[in-house]
Amino acid sequence: MRIDIISIFPEFFGVLDISLLGRARQAGLIDLAVHNLRDFTHDRHNTVDDTPYGGGAGMVMKPEPWGEALDSILPADTGANTGTDTDAGPVLIFPSPAGEQFTQAMARELAQEPHLVFGCGRYEGIDQRVVDHFAGRGRVRLVSLGDYVLNGGEVAVMAMIEAIGRLIPGVVGNPESLVEESHEDGLLEYPSYTKPASWRGLDVPPVLLSGNHGAIAAWRHQQQIDRTRAVRPDLLPFDNADAELLPPANSKARRAARG
Ligand code: ADE
Repeated sequence: MRIDIISIFPEFFGVLDISLLGRARQAGLIDLAVHNLRDFTHDRHNTVDDTPYGGGAGMVMKPEPWGEALDSILPADTGANTGTDTDAGPVLIFPSPAGEQFTQAMARELAQEPHLVFGCGRYEGIDQRVVDHFAGRGRVRLVSLGDYVLNGGEVAVMAMIEAIGRLIPGVVGNPESLVEESHEDGLLEYPSYTKPASWRGLDVPPVLLSGNHGAIAAWRHQQQIDRTRAVRPDLLPFDNADAELLPPANSKARRAARG
């Protein structure tokens, strides 16, 4: 996958050189480039922002540097907006608290794309005409990390790239480990334990030492339901009262129940 990031703080993304994604880049699974928006300005001060038309607090990012930066990255003719057709060119993502909510499902969808371009806004955001212009040339999405306001899009883009990057085949060594995670089956994940079996007076739940795989799967599934009900009841795909009656996650019976 090719990833381009435009930001006035390119140094922010130095952490993508390390850890799992750093290895994925070295292995050629992710081809990532970070572009400094100020390189696309032409004045002495490399100005990227100006006061808002209509008044109000804060500054708005000027359209011209964004236009030049994106023109230099996007293919000249990405055609009309053709939905999810990957021939339509890269997906251009603007992180914004006013965007659609980023989810695991969106991460899965974007992990299939050959080319993602992220435009990190700062201040009070980017002149709306940048979004409108490029939406007319290809696929554009405004994406929010959650219902809170960050100082800029950089942290949101870091989070999105980490969530998307680890779903690209080959990035996570053991793909099995991606299956039983929070949000993968609509529930929060079960708690995990390792050795020693007893630590500071706290014992590992005995069922995990039993060797009974059926009992372990049932216990883990019940833990997922209990945790989800306790902290994220909005995620439960069924009536609370019936929760225990469902077969374990990823079981044949559960898939059949889902239809
Ligand atoms: N920029 C500022 N706040 C944001 C948020 N919550 N999500 C994505 N981008 C943002």
